[in-house]
Amino acid sequence: MTDALYNKHVVVGITGGIAAYKIPDLVRRLRERGAEVRVVLTANATQFITPLTLQAVSGHTVHCDLLDPAAESGMGHIELARWADIVCVAPASANFLARLAHGFGDDLLTTLCLATTAQIVVAPAMNQQMWQNSRTQANLAILQQHSIAIIGPAIGDQACGDTGPGRLVDPADIVAQLADSLSARTLEGISVLITAGPTWEAIDPVRGLTNHSSGKMGYATAAAAANAGAKVTLISGPTALAPPAEVTLVPVTAAREMHGAVQDRIDHCDIFIAVAAVADYRPVRKARQKIKKNESRMTLELIRNPDILASVTARRNAPFTVGFAAETSDLKAHATHKLRRKRIDLIAANAVGDGIAFGSDTNALTLIDNNGAIEIGPAPKLELARTLIAEIAERYHAKASAQDS
Ligand code: PMT
Repeated sequence: MTDALYNKHVVVGITGGIAAYKIPDLVRRLRERGAEVRVVLTANATQFITPLTLQAVSGHTVHCDLLDPAAESGMGHIELARWADIVCVAPASANFLARLAHGFGDDLLTTLCLATTAQIVVAPAMNQQMWQNSRTQANLAILQQHSIAIIGPAIGDQACGDTGPGRLVDPADIVAQLADSLSARTLEGISVLITAGPTWEAIDPVRGLTNHSSGKMGYATAAAAANAGAKVTLISGPTALAPPAEVTLVPVTAAREMHGAVQDRIDHCDIFIAVAAVADYRPVRKARQKIKKNESRMTLELIRNPDILASVTARRNAPFTVGFAAETSDLKAHATHKLRRKRIDLIAANAVGDGIAFGSDTNALTLIDNNGAIEIGPAPKLELARTLIAEIAERYHAKASAQDS
């Protein structure tokens, strides 16, 4: 199989940050995989790494200025924007992310990003507090809405002495993700229905039963499926997340509402992926008024919610179905039991509890089907979702061609 990076045109943009010293390694790895690389440096990046170093590793003149007559008479910013199959900005500083999110075009790199139709991928690197700042996070949400892919950051010790999220993802992993982004659209034209997030089962007008699902895994799965060319509908319980680009969002609250939304759309989907953490029970009655604390004890009577996943696999023309299993013990045994009991094509099992999987930015999955089990991750949820979608696509196409023959 040809390497997805072979003969591909990669523009590597470098912004001002200490992690810039890792980029010659990134460029070298890209060239080893057969990619052609052109490097663009911002003014701040030149404080951390020299154009000469990058010229040596890329084998081409490095581009630094928007208004450089010599550069513009050769491969100017518009030519570079057209030439690129993919634009990778690494490290991407908080300042660059803000300028990109708000459409600035005041230097070569931002102008190129505005002018290109190629996929843009950013690998942020910055102090952990800057990363966690709500304004940086808001800028990232805008970038995601514009289909800009975000790699990392990794978590760990930082050059400034802090520890936390903000390290540049390892160049080898950035290269792997660029290859993923450039690989074939494995779900082109396929309809994918995904459930995500928690459900909220009301007790009274202000209280309810729910869980710690943030929706991150489900939204990442939706983004990865859309990137693979699928037509994606995301039925989501209450989350604080913006829907990924090119995904139709159907917001719901309670399990029964999620069940109804799935039933309404299931006939028109080829693949169903149940990532949602659906409440198994709901209160028998929802009090019309806020319940007063008159008694020292109260009893809440609960009734089973419909099993959305089981209702899909029970259908005569069930789509290819993927379930998730959240387990606190005996992960493989419990997940395998769910695979068989619910007659699912593939189950993605994750260990949960103690801050793992629920709410976190990273996860690890054990994928189990009737042929065995494989482990994927630990990795950031978007990266994990891309691998998950590739695994689903392979199995979906194999099943479809077996049914055709
Ligand atoms: O949202 P995040 O913070 O990113 O966290 C991700 C996650 C931990 C929620 C996710 O990775 C995950 O494990 N989702 C499934 C959680 C769950 O409810 O697992 P379960 O083992 O209870 O359910 C098994 C399967 O049946 C799941 O696919 C679930 O969506 C489905 N189910 C369960 C109950 C029900 N009434 N209807 C269902 O469809």
